Amino acid sequence: MYALGFLLEFMGSLLVLLPLLLWARAVRRLPDARNWQRTARAARRRYYYVLAVLALKLLPAALLLGHGLAFGIRPLRTLVLLGVPLALAARDTLPLLNRAIRAAGPTPELRLAAAAPRVVLPARLAAVAGGLLAALNLVVQETITLWLSGGVFALVALVVVVDVTQRQRRLAGQARTVRWSPWARLAAPLVLVVAAAGCGAVGSTMSAFPDRLSMNAHGHHGATSGPAVNVTDLVGGPYSGPVRRFTLVADEARLPGRAEEAWTFGGTVPGTPLRVRQGETVELKLVNRLERTPTTIHWHGVDVPNAMDGVAGVTQDAVQPGGEFTYRFRADKPGTYWYHSHQVANEQVTRGLFGSLVIDPTTGPAAEVDETLMVHHLNAGVDLRRTEPGRRVRLRVVNANSGTERLTFTGAPFRLAAVDGQDLHEPAEVSERSINLGGGGRADLEFTMPPHPVRLGGPATRTALVLSPDGVSTVDQPKSAPELDLTTYGKPRPTPFGPDSAYTKHFTVDLDQGVGFHAGGLGFLWTVDGRVFPDAPMLMVRQGDLVRMTFRNKGINDHPMHLHGHHVLALSRDGTPFTGSPLWLDTVLVRPGQTWEVAFQADNPGIWMDHCHDLLHATNGMTLHLGYEGVRTPFTVGSATGNKPE
Ligand code: C2O
Ligand code: CU
Repeated sequence: MYALGFLLEFMGSLLVLLPLLLWARAVRRLPDARNWQRTARAARRRYYYVLAVLALKLLPAALLLGHGLAFGIRPLRTLVLLGVPLALAARDTLPLLNRAIRAAGPTPELRLAAAAPRVVLPARLAAVAGGLLAALNLVVQETITLWLSGGVFALVALVVVVDVTQRQRRLAGQARTVRWSPWARLAAPLVLVVAAAGCGAVGSTMSAFPDRLSMNAHGHHGATSGPAVNVTDLVGGPYSGPVRRFTLVADEARLPGRAEEAWTFGGTVPGTPLRVRQGETVELKLVNRLERTPTTIHWHGVDVPNAMDGVAGVTQDAVQPGGEFTYRFRADKPGTYWYHSHQVANEQVTRGLFGSLVIDPTTGPAAEVDETLMVHHLNAGVDLRRTEPGRRVRLRVVNANSGTERLTFTGAPFRLAAVDGQDLHEPAEVSERSINLGGGGRADLEFTMPPHPVRLGGPATRTALVLSPDGVSTVDQPKSAPELDLTTYGKPRPTPFGPDSAYTKHFTVDLDQGVGFHAGGLGFLWTVDGRVFPDAPMLMVRQGDLVRMTFRNKGINDHPMHLHGHHVLALSRDGTPFTGSPLWLDTVLVRPGQTWEVAFQADNPGIWMDHCHDLLHATNGMTLHLGYEGVRTPFTVGSATGNKPE
């Protein structure tokens, strides 16, 4: 519904522009028109057409307002900016047009009345407003464009007013008070062009890819913030206890049946599956043998110390070809995680630089049979595996694609045991339910293997996993299954904070899209608060802060928002509180029109990315950072260093 409203609104602003222009043209020509009646009729017809479109726009306005005031800004803008001149036209322009149509012929008195500003101005100003609206609904960086377009609007409106009054004087046989020289006549459109170019120029310098990322957080609360800390000092440890050592080589590889070369961690796509036990210290050496491609490893969902987060240009320099980097962190919380490159992530993850990471509880594997499915376009196909009936199975799904996957499990009743690696509390057994997994998200399913095949997959997913007693027989994907409602699933249990806690910080993050200048070119952008990286706001916290965050998706795409270094507790979705099991997420799937409230404790100092895990969106602007006061980074993003996290 929300997407429909948005689309109607969007198309409406473009579709209404042409009839608006034609209406204004007919009204302007009327005093001089040769075919007087036909022009008047055309003007009236076009007026009614514009009115009808505006009335139609009430529908999207209602749809969008149903999602809260914040979502209704676009249609409200349209209704106000167009509604006023249209109402004025109903008062003066329309009666005049009716008179003109009824009259036998144009009397001089009627011609003069048709040129009156009260008659002409509403139509002509509505046309200017229509153009402005079409631009505003497309362009991002509203703070800039609002001022600039407001200025342009005022200028053009002024020209229109002068034009209309002078014409009336001319028709009345009076001397003109303003004389447009041919040059002045040229100037008005020129002003428009220059202003428009100015919009672009401002947009481009404001959001071009930076050579330096200005994200050094200064401790401006002198008394409470200690001396500055460097992200490279935030290494965690010292750790005692068992150490698990790995070496992971990033290299080019040819995958069977594929023309282009894949990039791999450990020679396969997905990369080497990593499996460790809770309490173990992971010490992993990344060796980069890629020919020309710097890379890193980010531990998605593991709240590692900041220096180990693997974000190029923020927590480390990308590892150059021939180079190495050792990551060290403690596997604290059991669960399903994954690792992937965070250097030019959109391209590198797409080309294969990712793998799974499973942390088993201290007590050992969570089930008798433990399988992991990584959903990724390079991993497409139906994966058949043999499983003995009667076994307890834990099935872990990782969405390594950018798009949302609607996954359905069929063949046996199951429990959704965990989301984003965090166990749910007393999840009930359900059957034929689907789960929407945003890019980067994970879900663990548990069930007892029946004496026939079971299948996990989705309509959008070409990746599917079939477990069967014989390892060959299969079962079809069900056409559709209702979505499992996570706001009520499982049983509540105490959490360290909740909806009624006293929060020390509250951030509201608006997700949207538009057209604008970014990274040196004009293109489609995904925005945070109407801006794109690096102009997106930096969320600043102090260690110990209890933070509430509101995500509002005003756009038409899914945005799986991934905060590094922390798990957030879901408080509410569209005002509906989460009353089932506590839901701890690292990737919050905010669907179009949705509002999510989440909370987290600022207990892991550093500079952390918070970005959309539709990696194309992240590349095209939807990236912001959570910074702790007093933490600075010596690393920089941009062409000078070659560090490009997205
Ligand atoms: Cu899975 Cu910032 O990434
Ligand atoms: Cu997105």
